[in-house]
Amino acid sequence: MMAKARIAVIGAGLMGHGIAQVFALAGHDVSIQDSVAANLDSAKARILANLRDLGDDLSAVERVRPTADLAEAVREADYVVEAVLEDLPLKQKLFVEIEENVRPHTILASNTSVIPITKIMEGLRDRSRALGTHWWNPPYLVPLVEVIGTEWTSQQAIDWTMALHKAAGKMPVHVKKDVPGFVGNRLCDAETVDTVIKASFGRRLAVLGPLENADLVGTDLTLAIHKTVLPDIDNRPHPSPYLEGLVNNGKLGFKSGEGFRSWSTDAQAALRAKVLHHLKKARTADA
Ligand SMILES: NC(=O)c1ccc[n+]([C@@H]2O[C@H](COP(=O)([O-])OP(=O)(O)OC[C@H]3O[C@@H](n4cnc5c(N)ncnc54)[C@H](O)[C@@H]3O)[C@@H](O)[C@H]2O)c1
Repeated sequence: MMAKARIAVIGAGLMGHGIAQVFALAGHDVSIQDSVAANLDSAKARILANLRDLGDDLSAVERVRPTADLAEAVREADYVVEAVLEDLPLKQKLFVEIEENVRPHTILASNTSVIPITKIMEGLRDRSRALGTHWWNPPYLVPLVEVIGTEWTSQQAIDWTMALHKAAGKMPVHVKKDVPGFVGNRLCDAETVDTVIKASFGRRLAVLGPLENADLVGTDLTLAIHKTVLPDIDNRPHPSPYLEGLVNNGKLGFKSGEGFRSWSTDAQAALRAKVLHHLKKARTADA
């Protein structure tokens, strides 16, 4: 059993609220912060709805404390995980501010999809406690968490983070090389590839195709990911012009009603329900 820890989650969007939910359900006290009031204010209701849907302990939501004040959110934390927009300067600035307000041994993690952790954390005074934790959507149903160290990250920070996620029911995998896209978004390590695929997007693939997923998470996030990863792995160094066209024309996926495909409210709800049903069945099979 892992001792009760104080966790701070920065960003209460699709990923942040789900990560907060997992840690609260594991018995930890969780503060959650967001710069957009509507996203912060709805975080507990979204967590409660998820817990109810999954048949999990509803009292977990009482361990989640929303706050709009970043310094206050992180001041007492043992562990801070950031899940704001996929934007390097934003993440760099945020971590500098977080470092000014945390205790000396607090571990700092970014849930970036593909940006190298080395780039996000390079401006910190103490880089030995900084690392990446790459979760998958939805965080409470997809088991994999890639734990990414940099050349500066201490073994102690890696070990503690792996133990934290394992005790919370996740399947952490230590990714030893900080390359854009880590393993799950860039299949580069033969040894862990099978585990990573089966415990991450492989689990969704039977019911959620890649273009449906792009629309579900947003074509804007998908474009941000391609801009970071493709120059490094593809001999065509730019995102697809078709994808850029979608984003430039405001076709952002579910959120605008159209991305690669058109999505009525009913069609969105039906796909979400289908994915959740499939992942819940897989979770039961894991247990
Ligand atoms: N969606 C996915 O499938 C997925 C999977 C793995 C990792 N990620 C990564 O997780 C991160 C978050 O993605 P998401 O899908 O949850 O995005 P999202 O847009 O749903 O949520 C981002 C949240 O960050 C908040 N925010 C923006 N600027 C902020 C600031 N300065 N301070 C505090 N909060 C701020 C926004 O208000 C929003 O609520 C990104 O880095 C993304 O690449 C996403």
